[in-house]
Amino acid sequence: MSQAIVLPKLLQVGQGALDTVGEIAIQLGCRRVMIISDPVMESLGQVERLRKIIDSAGVESETFTNTIPEPTEASILPAVTQVIDGHYDGVVALGGGSVIDSAKAIALLAKTRGRIRDHSVPNIVKMPIMPLIAIPTTAGTGSEVTKVTIITDQANDEKLLCMGPGLIPSAAVIDFELTMTAPTRITADTGIDALTHAIEAYVSGKAGLFTDQQALMAMKLIAPNLRQAVSTPNNTKAKEQMMLGATLAGVAFSNASVALVHGMSRPIGAHFHVPHGMSNAMLLPTVTEYSIPAAKPRYAECARAMGVADASTSDEQAVELLLNELKQINRDLEVPTMAQFGIDQQAYFDCLEVMAEQALASGSPGNNPRVPDKNQVIALYKAAW
Ligand SMILES: [Fe+2]
Repeated sequence: MSQAIVLPKLLQVGQGALDTVGEIAIQLGCRRVMIISDPVMESLGQVERLRKIIDSAGVESETFTNTIPEPTEASILPAVTQVIDGHYDGVVALGGGSVIDSAKAIALLAKTRGRIRDHSVPNIVKMPIMPLIAIPTTAGTGSEVTKVTIITDQANDEKLLCMGPGLIPSAAVIDFELTMTAPTRITADTGIDALTHAIEAYVSGKAGLFTDQQALMAMKLIAPNLRQAVSTPNNTKAKEQMMLGATLAGVAFSNASVALVHGMSRPIGAHFHVPHGMSNAMLLPTVTEYSIPAAKPRYAECARAMGVADASTSDEQAVELLLNELKQINRDLEVPTMAQFGIDQQAYFDCLEVMAEQALASGSPGNNPRVPDKNQVIALYKAAW
């Protein structure tokens, strides 16, 4: 069976990549771009720095820095109006996954003049959005290379998933220097998110030979560097390898899909406002243990790629070592339990039925090597508590 691979036209990778954004805008035919970012990047001076880089290439720019974490449609509509009324011909996103997701939605609605719900699944975004240059400032979500965005409908807290080849950014600028100042917790959470992308893409029912290579290489880059990237923030080698690993993991899951961890993680995020990578981390050991019997050789390869097993290790041993490592990563990175995070136990258990339904409705669990029914999802939520 063949596998469709959708990638940005251009990837600029490595230290100093940010300095090329003006030239990239010119290459994409942009003369007047809207920079989308957030208040943190603005206060760090990074938005102004980017503006100067763009300006020096002779490209006009304006900024919109009012994006929010877990973006809602209401949060992005002012920027859509600004892009349309100002006759901008491109969008530049500078920030983490929420900023890049916001920018994708802005570039989509500025082009189509519709609403998010017109484009969310089961619809597929096939028409290209406005030219978008995505510049991640965290090593994690992979949003710079994915054809997916998640925007919340603020009317009912529903997370609307938009996906399709049209949503792929035109260019991704992957400069690990931008991650050097990320707070420790964000480095940890986004790093575990990236590791989860790689593992899930590798065991996904939609995996293929191309995405397998990206996923395995991502695990090789992320696993030995994740702890160091968190504990020694000035470690440029660890940051560089994490950044590339996160991007490769993004390529892998954008084209091979995520699976049960992400399916179950999104409802926890929506109901209890747990950061995305952290809710993945809370679920990853439990869901991996449940899934291993259906894909033991694949999970054993994950252990080998992550460096906790080698070619001489049996699959049986390797999957045990993988589980131990996933639990140890959570301990070392101080991932809280759900109770420690402050989720009310009664509220959580009252919500299990709805969360299980939402998890299954997202479609991601259908890609898992072992596909659960609703009762099994509820049991997994209970086990993860
Ligand atoms: Fe993710």
